[in-house]
Amino acid sequence: MEHQSTLGFSLQLHILLSLALSLASFTTVTATSEEEGQFVYSGFSGSTDLTLDGTATVTPDGVLKLTNGTVHLKGHAFYPTPWQFSKSPNGVVQSFSIIFVFGMVPVYSDQCTDGMTFFISPTKDFSGAQTSQYLGLLNITNDGKSSNHIFAVELDSSQNTEFKDIDDNHVGININSLTSTEARPAGFYDDKNNGVFNSLSLVSRKEMQVWVDYDGDTTQINVTLAPLKVAKPLMPLVSTTKNLSTVLQDQSYVGFSASTGPIDSLYCVLGWSLGINRPAPDIDITKLPKLPRIGPKPQSKVLEIVLPIATAIFIFLVGTTIILLVRRRMRYAELHEDWEDEYGPHRFSYKDLFHATQGFHDANLLGRGGFGKVYKGVLPVSKLEVAVKRVSHESKQGIKEFIAEIVSIGRIRHRNIVQLLGYCRRKGELLLVYDYMSNGSLDKYLYLQEEEEHKPTLDWARRFEIIKGVASGLFYLHERWEKVVIHRDIKASNVLLDSEMNGRLGDFGLSRLYDHGTDPQTTRVVGTMGYFAPELARTGKATPLTDVYAFGIFILEVTCGRRPIIDSNQAEEVGSDILIDWVVEHWSKGSLADTLDMRLQGSNCNLDEVCLALKLGLLCAHPFGNVRPSMRQVMQYLDGEMLLPELMPTNVSYSMMAVMQNDGFSQYTSLTDTVSSNGVTSSLSTGR
Ligand SMILES: Nc1ncnc2c1ncn2[C@@H]1O[C@H](COP(=O)(O)OP(=O)(O)O)[C@@H](O)[C@H]1O
Ligand SMILES: *[C@@H]1O[C@H](CO)[C@@H](O)[C@H](O)[C@H]1NC(C)=O
Ligand SMILES: *[C@@H]1O[C@H](CO)[C@@H](O)[C@H](O)[C@H]1NC(C)=O
Ligand SMILES: *[C@@H]1O[C@H](CO)[C@@H](O)[C@H](O)[C@H]1NC(C)=O
Ligand SMILES: *[C@@H]1O[C@H](CO)[C@@H](O)[C@H](O)[C@H]1NC(C)=O
Repeated sequence: MEHQSTLGFSLQLHILLSLALSLASFTTVTATSEEEGQFVYSGFSGSTDLTLDGTATVTPDGVLKLTNGTVHLKGHAFYPTPWQFSKSPNGVVQSFSIIFVFGMVPVYSDQCTDGMTFFISPTKDFSGAQTSQYLGLLNITNDGKSSNHIFAVELDSSQNTEFKDIDDNHVGININSLTSTEARPAGFYDDKNNGVFNSLSLVSRKEMQVWVDYDGDTTQINVTLAPLKVAKPLMPLVSTTKNLSTVLQDQSYVGFSASTGPIDSLYCVLGWSLGINRPAPDIDITKLPKLPRIGPKPQSKVLEIVLPIATAIFIFLVGTTIILLVRRRMRYAELHEDWEDEYGPHRFSYKDLFHATQGFHDANLLGRGGFGKVYKGVLPVSKLEVAVKRVSHESKQGIKEFIAEIVSIGRIRHRNIVQLLGYCRRKGELLLVYDYMSNGSLDKYLYLQEEEEHKPTLDWARRFEIIKGVASGLFYLHERWEKVVIHRDIKASNVLLDSEMNGRLGDFGLSRLYDHGTDPQTTRVVGTMGYFAPELARTGKATPLTDVYAFGIFILEVTCGRRPIIDSNQAEEVGSDILIDWVVEHWSKGSLADTLDMRLQGSNCNLDEVCLALKLGLLCAHPFGNVRPSMRQVMQYLDGEMLLPELMPTNVSYSMMAVMQNDGFSQYTSLTDTVSSNGVTSSLSTGR
């Protein structure tokens, strides 16, 4: 028999191929004999025994294509020999079951017409069957006739009202007719999810499996559908009872039909098995060929996975970049207004300053002043060493005038003035860029910290040079430059020492920011305690003479090595807590030279210079402005070009300051008169 030889060949082939290593896909046909009542095709490659007609073909990789995509055509495939469905002699149809795997592939669209069937029929001749809605199964004349002896399961992808189709995506049980006995929309009851119904789309280009079961005793017919990888659901999709003994003939063929309507469609079968009086053998789904990929290509699995991930990564990257850019912008954000354009060369970019100071790192902190922190930096391109002062400044008011002043001050070049290089403005913040002074501020040398005891202090000659230098710088500001510049904050900590230990005035003008910035209520007299000229405390008006006063205190400070005001417990030792009072005291006792810095006493220093400095300091710090010399005169005194006026300590009560400050202006004027009439030289060039 043909089938036995097929089996034999197949078995031999199987062994051979297994030995010859895994060309297993060729062993798809393991069909068995009719005596055993079963067959199974897991793919159709190599099975030339199927009877095909119409458009039906088997592709080289084993797909049974019932249609070829062209419209209004039909195709059939049959198991070549008929099967004995009824048990002789009484002719009762026995139980049987069929399993097949199919797939529908729309060619140019998302739809297929019309559909396909699995059927059992007494004949292989379907030449009279019509295409389209007749599914290649019947025609207009024989539809519904019991003489057809046809049982069919339709997989219908279009709706035809003439056959009472429920929709365009249903599974039906058909007896001799295209009008289904029973039909259900495609889907399955999911055992893994409490039997919840899941819809399926027949034309989804996905392989699906169908189980057709007939029970000869109960005459129940079950049709069950599921996606390929889902095991047979317990609950059938369509179920009916029909005594097939009254329908089928003893000998019947099994096969598939399909027909196209107006839309190009492929109807394919990938695997098939049958069992009569026994369960149909399982189809080995791992051996099934792939459905043809035609038409609008669905995205490959790789793309399906990679694309979303790639998109997500892309969006993430774009997002991060934007955030980084925004943060960068915020980080380096500056305030810039039109009026600043003319100051271009004096304007530094915040980014440069940020990098110059290594992000304003604490390691670069030079010091902390009354207005803000000062950082050391190295400018990126020029490699110039700078000191960057960060001043917090909220008010917009007065900033324009201030910047104008800063820029004009920036044009001052003097060997005793720390050059202001430029500025940068940010929200709530102002940055001033100065020349870097490698030896730091003078106060550090005057008042040694505990741990710096070993550090040699400045000798007198150096101190005198510094006093002269600062005097010359201040003289330049007051009288030599194109405008009168009042420093407002002269003190040892604002005198910086360059690499050659020259004293240089730094930090000037800054106080003005607070002077005409902010609102009147918060206006405060700027400067530093102990350096305020008495009239400044009252009038709040800075003049060159208030600078001279502070300079006088500065001279005393440098000479005596003492702060202008010291706290009371220290004062116990030295006698007075106000430096100037203490010096006056010694002066009146005739021991002026004793006030010289302890560390210099006994050293080889010019006592004439020391006394000149002390007396000049007292004169400059005279409570009455009109007694104080101008900086020009100070220069002359220091250079010995002019003799210091003879000032009697008893004549001038420096302690009267307190009285004046308490009692106010009236007394001040009267005292001024007294002093003048006492013949104290006061050749006044009362500040311009
Ligand atoms: N141009 C500079 N070069 C080097 N160090 C500086 C410079 N400017 C300021 N400093 C340091 O920063 C400290 C604080 O400066 P500053 O704010 O001017 O002090 P203050 O407000 O007390 O006058 C100073 O004591 C000094 O050590
Ligand atoms: C489909 O088959 C028909 C007849 O069998 C043929 O005329 C037609 O060209 C085929 N179409 C394709 C796309 O192969
Ligand atoms: C319908 O099909 C039958 C059986 O194949 C055939 O004899 C008959 O001629 C067909 N009728 C038409 C109109 O095609
Ligand atoms: C049909 O399905 C029902 C419900 O699962 C089941 O009880 C019955 O045995 C099935 N009949 C056949 C012929 O498989
Ligand atoms: C089915 O029909 C056959 C023949 O008409 C009959 O012998 C048989 O008893 C019927 N089976 C059932 C379950 O009704």
